[in-house]
Amino acid sequence: MNQHSALSQEDLDRLTRSTFLREVRYHTRLASTNTHALELLSVDRTVTCPSLIYAEEQTTGRGRGANRWWSNPGGLTFSLVLEIAPAGLTTEQTPLVSLLTGLSVMKACQTELPRADFSVKWPNDVYLSHRKLAGILVEVPPGRADMLVIGIGINVNNSFRDASPEIRNTAISLSEVGGREYDSLSLLERLLVSFEELLSELARGENVIEKNWPPHCLLTGKQTTLKSGPRLVTGLCLGVDARGALRLHTSRGEERFFGGTVESWSNCQGR
Ligand code: BTN
Repeated sequence: MNQHSALSQEDLDRLTRSTFLREVRYHTRLASTNTHALELLSVDRTVTCPSLIYAEEQTTGRGRGANRWWSNPGGLTFSLVLEIAPAGLTTEQTPLVSLLTGLSVMKACQTELPRADFSVKWPNDVYLSHRKLAGILVEVPPGRADMLVIGIGINVNNSFRDASPEIRNTAISLSEVGGREYDSLSLLERLLVSFEELLSELARGENVIEKNWPPHCLLTGKQTTLKSGPRLVTGLCLGVDARGALRLHTSRGEERFFGGTVESWSNCQGR
């Protein structure tokens, strides 16, 4: 599969054969794969999970908060619909699923560019050469606390020539760094395999975050500013704990945050 070729039935069959997916729903164009998944779950309680909602083109992709997800041809956009209990997880573990998603995106991309500078930014963005490569939006469908919709957008073969200067200066795609096109189907396959492995480790009670996050944490050792509810808090990032909380050393001492938006980060002088 290259930049502009659509997924074939054979490709869809390959995904259900080689990964833990039980169903792939393919669309040439959707407003947002997450919105579509949420709508589907509100009317059809029989979605076969794990299910993948895939769109060749997304016209109004959503990001966290009020953000939009900008994508153009060559980008990979999809949502994974997962039932928590059959995956062997408890609802307390769901915040970790979002971090594991970022790790599996990073691992899949690392296979393509093994020497490149990948990092994960809490809670679940993936960076390449200090620019945003992938965004993840995890949502709980209304009235379905037993499920997760995990929306993933990855800049694979797209270019930012037509994007706003703000996006052009902060985003990056795999092809821009590697200087060639990548096979999005193989990337998706590897991502799903890696995600399932990490989920199984979590279900077995392993400390998946401690094992995988530290070498790739973008924020560790950086002066980090977080918007947490009404509070804007700045502190030295000490990493992420086993429960997925961001650890900041602030004027109050060490504090742990389970939610919030990282507003900025910078290298801490003298450390
Ligand atoms: C972010 O960076 O704030 C999250 C971006 C998430 C984008 C993906 S693309 C597929 C899925 N559908 C959406 O509307 N959003 C997510």
